[in-house]
Amino acid sequence: MGERVDIFEVGPRDGLQNEQREIPVAEKVALIDCLSKAGFNRIEVASFVSPKWVPQMAGSADVLAGIQRVGKVRYAALTPNMRGYEDALSAKADEIAVFASASEGFSKANLNATIAESIERFKPILEAARHIDLPVRGYVSCVTDCPYDGPTPPEKVAEIADTLFALGCYEVSLGDTIGQGTPDTIAHMLLAVRETVPVTRLAGHFHDTNGRAIDNIDAALALGVRTFDSAVGGLGGCPYAPGAAGNVATEAVVAHLERLGYETGLDLGIVEQAAQMALAMRAE
Ligand code: HMG
Ligand code: MG
Repeated sequence: MGERVDIFEVGPRDGLQNEQREIPVAEKVALIDCLSKAGFNRIEVASFVSPKWVPQMAGSADVLAGIQRVGKVRYAALTPNMRGYEDALSAKADEIAVFASASEGFSKANLNATIAESIERFKPILEAARHIDLPVRGYVSCVTDCPYDGPTPPEKVAEIADTLFALGCYEVSLGDTIGQGTPDTIAHMLLAVRETVPVTRLAGHFHDTNGRAIDNIDAALALGVRTFDSAVGGLGGCPYAPGAAGNVATEAVVAHLERLGYETGLDLGIVEQAAQMALAMRAE
């Protein structure tokens, strides 16, 4: 049996948060119910952020209430502040995520806060989650390039990843938010981050804007990363990152990893079925 690589499905959140059309809760629920059968351990399905900032995620509590939960799957939600944390708990999210940026420009655009202010908002979330053993994931955005500030120094990414890990995030997902990374810049960034956070606690979150996400996954695999975020159908983008095309497509990542001999535990047929659903949602 090949070595295991874990895929974290983010389509219902990172994918759908960026669609222009208002997608009914029932359609989101149907997509997630399909994904639940594919074998994922974790699916990001919701985001408890301000609906004024991201109207597409306004129905997140209804989505979590409507899905058919499959035993082993953890259904995850983004929480930018304590208000989001409380809402995620009420909606019975199985895990949550805080999201910081490695660049000040994106932090301001995405959270209306400096990096330092955003970390201060996350501290009480991590403190509260620790008391109830709720797993918290951490994101770092713009790990190679920022749409506002240009190239991101690898040391800055290492600093923010280290901060989130030290505060209690069980895993830190490194986001090439605008898909400008290359195998070279991804490798430089990872070499710096690996110095501060164990590589087994890192995930790659690559957007495919320039068609390089799979090459970037290969660069990360070579440096020991074994967890990747992706979205069925290549859904996605980020409302506060102009030019951020879709996340790398889950079906492409699974097929690629299988060709390389890795084990994903996923049923590619069901993943492809979910991808068709996702693409139909986008087209409507
Ligand atoms: P703000 O305007 O600075 O803060 O927003 P505020 O406290 O003045 O709140 C504004 C309004 O939102 C108020 O309502 C609050 O009550 C309300 P009003 O009084 O005007 O009626 N509010 C909330 N409502 C619902 N849920 C909440 C919440 N908090 C406040 N949790 C804030 C600050 C953080 C709220 C805002 O900037 C925000 O929601 N940002 C989220 C942006 C976002 O979701 N971006 C996409 C996700 S990040 C991403 O995609 C990157 C990632 O994929 C990795 C990668 O690719 O790099 C993770
Ligand atoms: Mg993203």
